[in-house]
Amino acid sequence: MRAALTAAAALALASSASAAVVEKWYNLTYVTASPDGFEKEWSVGVNGTWPPPILEVNYNDTVRVHALNSLDSPSSLHHHGIFFNGSNYYDGAPGVTQCGLPAGRELTYEIPVDRQWGTYWWHSHSSVHYQDGLRAPLIIHAPEEPHQYDEEIIIVISDWYHERATKLNHQFMNKYNPTGAEPIPDALLIYAAQNGSYYSADDKVLFNDNLKIPFEAGKTYRIRVLKYVDRPALDSHCLRTLSHPLHNGGSLTSECYVAPTGIFSMLFFWIDGHDMRVIEADGVDTQEYPVDFLTLSVAQRYSVLVTARNDTSQNFKIHANFDSSMFDTVPEDLQLNYTATLSYGAGNPVAEEGVQEELGLMQDHLLVPVVVEEQFTPTTSLELDVWFDAYDNGVNRASMLNNISYVGPDTPSLMTMLSMGEDALNPVVYGPQTAQHLLTKNDVMDLMVINFDANAHPFHLHGHNFQVTRVATDVTSDDPELNPPHALGAANPMRRDTIIVPAGGAVNIAWRADNPGAWILHMEAGLAVVFMEDIPGAQQAMTLPQQIKDQCDALGISTTGNAAGKMSVTDLSGAPNGPRDQAHITGWTPKAKGALAGCVLTALLGMITVVWYALGGQLDADELAEEVERDMAKKAAAGGGLLKRGFNAIRGKSA
Ligand SMILES: *[C@@H]1O[C@H](CO)[C@@H](O)[C@H](O)[C@H]1NC(C)=O
Ligand SMILES: *[C@@H]1O[C@H](CO)[C@@H](O)[C@H](O)[C@H]1NC(C)=O
Ligand SMILES: *[C@@H]1O[C@H](CO)[C@@H](O)[C@H](O)[C@H]1NC(C)=O
Ligand SMILES: *[C@@H]1O[C@H](CO)[C@@H](O)[C@H](O)[C@H]1NC(C)=O
Ligand SMILES: *[C@@H]1O[C@H](CO)[C@@H](O)[C@H](O)[C@H]1NC(C)=O
Ligand SMILES: *[C@@H]1O[C@H](CO)[C@@H](O)[C@H](O)[C@H]1NC(C)=O
Ligand SMILES: *[C@@H]1O[C@H](CO)[C@@H](O)[C@H](O)[C@H]1NC(C)=O
Ligand SMILES: *[C@@H]1O[C@H](CO)[C@@H](O)[C@H](O)[C@H]1NC(C)=O
Repeated sequence: MRAALTAAAALALASSASAAVVEKWYNLTYVTASPDGFEKEWSVGVNGTWPPPILEVNYNDTVRVHALNSLDSPSSLHHHGIFFNGSNYYDGAPGVTQCGLPAGRELTYEIPVDRQWGTYWWHSHSSVHYQDGLRAPLIIHAPEEPHQYDEEIIIVISDWYHERATKLNHQFMNKYNPTGAEPIPDALLIYAAQNGSYYSADDKVLFNDNLKIPFEAGKTYRIRVLKYVDRPALDSHCLRTLSHPLHNGGSLTSECYVAPTGIFSMLFFWIDGHDMRVIEADGVDTQEYPVDFLTLSVAQRYSVLVTARNDTSQNFKIHANFDSSMFDTVPEDLQLNYTATLSYGAGNPVAEEGVQEELGLMQDHLLVPVVVEEQFTPTTSLELDVWFDAYDNGVNRASMLNNISYVGPDTPSLMTMLSMGEDALNPVVYGPQTAQHLLTKNDVMDLMVINFDANAHPFHLHGHNFQVTRVATDVTSDDPELNPPHALGAANPMRRDTIIVPAGGAVNIAWRADNPGAWILHMEAGLAVVFMEDIPGAQQAMTLPQQIKDQCDALGISTTGNAAGKMSVTDLSGAPNGPRDQAHITGWTPKAKGALAGCVLTALLGMITVVWYALGGQLDADELAEEVERDMAKKAAAGGGLLKRGFNAIRGKSA
């Protein structure tokens, strides 16, 4: 293993890169895909093929992606993990940095790859397109890798639904399912690529048991493992309509939604008969770290080194298992464990399948970055409380910041920031429902995210790698192993862009506000806070590209003014405002309403899911309300759950 590099040494290495112009034309189209045998019409691909192409470039290349939207609703592309330093408007988050890319139009995204390398991915940030398959790896090759290996392979693991997202969303976003309980996927897909192409036979990409990845004795492989999920992403205008699903008696017009919970957050990955050494997490090179398995949450990426065996007489299974501990109920016909094959020879027998006894959360914060960066000393801090369960005073806590459930503004936050001069420093202009937090240039934010839910949840911050400075697996514990104090002065804490916050646990992350613009921190679905960084710097450095402005115009969205598109710090009429609390629950029958009194919208999470699926989606509102009531009573009898204990314990301590 090499000694750690300093940032300066890494940059010196980098300067040897020779840069090229990489230009891609994507025609975003519907396509019929059948990765698991089922023919899924309306999958979203590129140029009539699925999966979409891998974007593989070298550090310091000039990368341009021309996306032509041949779909029938606005789209967007987000290149996950890329810093977009000075070009926040290409970050592709509708409602935050751009309006949608309208159907029939083309948008050219410039993807800066001059500050980072490693394993990333690109995807639509507009929910239905992302859900229906518009997502692919983005690999940036370093000028010189800190680790040695002979070949590299990309392995993608992805949830997969047979039903079209628009239909799923309609079906599930109605008054019988007010929390957006998520449909359960039909399968997990494992597929792989090398040298920029997916492994295929007869022009067909190979999935799961059809996939055989050739290995040769004597070689060491770098395997880049990516996890995606078929979960709705952010789409502000959909958000806006659908955050009020109950306002109009449950009748919905929009084609997309944001579900406030995540069920299928994690999976486990390993290869029988082979050791794995982690060397990269989310684009951050690390010192070699041996692991028995990887725990991947949506959007997380790892590279592992795997050395081939000398004995080539057997083939081995590659495993990807759903983390079933996250499920309240497992549908009988849902397969939980999936495999592909690592092959030393076509005729070989396959070694007996391995079973992992101790699957759980990976200690990813113990990874040590190759490029040393001392722990920042925070200059400002913020606590986000993530609520997904009943809170005993009966208030909606489907929120992270100040009880606000994020709803995208009309005018994207970046455009408000760039157009309102000094008024942009007044948080009010970003709208009552944006969950915004302002950061001054070079502030060092210490952000604590406490997860009061009984499931682990991932969070992704756009525009930065953050330091992971504390991970507590149980915030109620007095055991410093489980609930360490927040210490300062670490020599080289782990950095990444997507983190899992354990159930009942907390993480502290830190970053320097040195990237002007509007950066969203969100979990896989919906709960979000937008950090408005260095507003004067953003105004000075950035001018919206004309193409982006024109496309807002085409969609009838103002590119100037506050969250409602008005040049005012007081008049926000028309900007999304709500939902906030129980008063918003309308559209239920009186009986159903009665049953819901005393419990909260968010309390239904999980329970509704269980009930809805267990009974095959056949309930009417009254029956559903009764089921929920029964479930609530059971939960109360069992002691109120993690949430209440956690809350009381930590409030008790700090009070
Ligand atoms: C990146 O590329 C530009 C020109 O394309 C070149 O001027 C610059 O030196 C390169 N920087 C590094 C760090 O390689
Ligand atoms: C998609 O098709 C266009 C021609 O219509 C071609 O120029 C482009 O290279 C194709 N893109 C990919 C990624 O194959
Ligand atoms: C893009 O795809 C659509 C749908 O297949 C097709 O009608 C159109 O001609 C394509 N456009 C280009 C420029 O290839
Ligand atoms: C990819 O490139 C490597 C090294 O050049 C080569 O050994 C390998 O066979 C290629 N793989 C595929 C699938 O083309
Ligand atoms: C394979 O054999 C070589 C030469 O004997 C040895 O150095 C190496 O450690 C062996 N590799 C493995 C994975 O056993
Ligand atoms: C799935 O894998 C886990 C972990 O190896 C194992 O405990 C479980 O029995 C497997 N389930 C099935 C249905 O094979
Ligand atoms: C959030 O809601 C709780 C419970 O009603 C309340 O005590 C608290 O003051 C609210 N916080 C904010 C910032 O509104
Ligand atoms: C953005 O660019 C500025 C100026 O080069 C630099 O100081 C800062 O570290 C960069 N931030 C990120 C996240 O790339």
